[in-house]
Amino acid sequence: MTRIDDNPVGGRSAVTVRGLVKHYGETKALDGVDLDVREGTVMGVLGPNGAGKTTLVRILSTLIAPDAGQATVAGYDVVRQPRQLRRVIGLTGQYASVDEKLPGWENLYLIGRLLDLSRKDARARADELLERFSLTEAARRPAGTYSGGMRRRLDLAASMIGRPAVLYLDEPTTGLDPRTRNEVWDEVKAMVGDGVTVLLTTQYMEEAEQLASELTVVDRGKVIAKGGIEELKARVGGRTLRVRPVDPLELRPLATMLDELGITGLAATTVDAETGTLLVPILSDEQLTAVVGAVTARGITVSSITTELPSLDEVFLSLTGHRAGAPQDAMPADDRQEVAV
Ligand SMILES: Nc1ncnc2c1ncn2[C@@H]1O[C@H](COP(=O)(O)OP(=O)(O)O)[C@@H](O)[C@H]1O
Ligand SMILES: [Mg+2]
Repeated sequence: MTRIDDNPVGGRSAVTVRGLVKHYGETKALDGVDLDVREGTVMGVLGPNGAGKTTLVRILSTLIAPDAGQATVAGYDVVRQPRQLRRVIGLTGQYASVDEKLPGWENLYLIGRLLDLSRKDARARADELLERFSLTEAARRPAGTYSGGMRRRLDLAASMIGRPAVLYLDEPTTGLDPRTRNEVWDEVKAMVGDGVTVLLTTQYMEEAEQLASELTVVDRGKVIAKGGIEELKARVGGRTLRVRPVDPLELRPLATMLDELGITGLAATTVDAETGTLLVPILSDEQLTAVVGAVTARGITVSSITTELPSLDEVFLSLTGHRAGAPQDAMPADDRQEVAV
């Protein structure tokens, strides 16, 4: 790597994108996109189908040229220095890129040779990466016989052969079942632990939440929001109080009481019968205190009260006015802060 650009958000920038535009006829796939990915971090580019994510990745991979704007990766310009740039990147797309007729090992070996590794080095690298992605046992079988998860792991291994400084993952788990998705996430986390900079595109909130530290939200070729995940959630405002009475029979009376007191936030209080909790939307610490006070005054014994930030789904909805992507599994409720009762 040569020059690394300075980044307005601090830290050294591995990917810098300024005013990127790409049209397909009447379609503005990219309509003036700005983006900075700090070295050693995962930038999540979150957006629904057709937002322009793949177009961005293809420009940053030098596969297509932008109509306007600039982009550099590890200091190399996508238009003027494509050959140097290609040497520092790895790419895993939404669709498998390996040769199905060839065994996993052969696929990796050939890519190594294409990248100018010696026979000996290509062999060693193939062995090492198959081991790393838990594919050693399947090494001699044609990739066409692999399960979806194994294929995606082989793809990740293939993208790592050239020891990329910057890795693009374009919807790496779209179409995978939840368990396989978790496997892929674990691999990505391990790669990030090794210091690789990642630009991850996804339409899944949960995936962004799992892997990315910062987000750029895109819709219809435009950046509509950017920042840390917690920052974006906080910007939308509001939290949800989750109150669990010891006696589930208290749930409904409690809900009615809180609604009648009129101390809650934007939406109505709802009962989550499955978890035996009451969800109370609140807008301020004062409202939180008022709810706790009302529950106490009523003499209801509560086993827990937690607060949750809005989910990324709610953030996206609030930013764009429409939901992103396909329906997803429930969000992990990992934003809870215990509140003393
Ligand atoms: N090769 C192409 N020819 C014409 N239109 C395209 C082409 N590639 C993408 N588009 C259009 O550009 C927009 C952005 O596409 P894409 O970058 O693939 O979005 P995403 O990856 O976020 O789903 C879409 O409206 C898509 O139909
Ligand atoms: Mg795409």
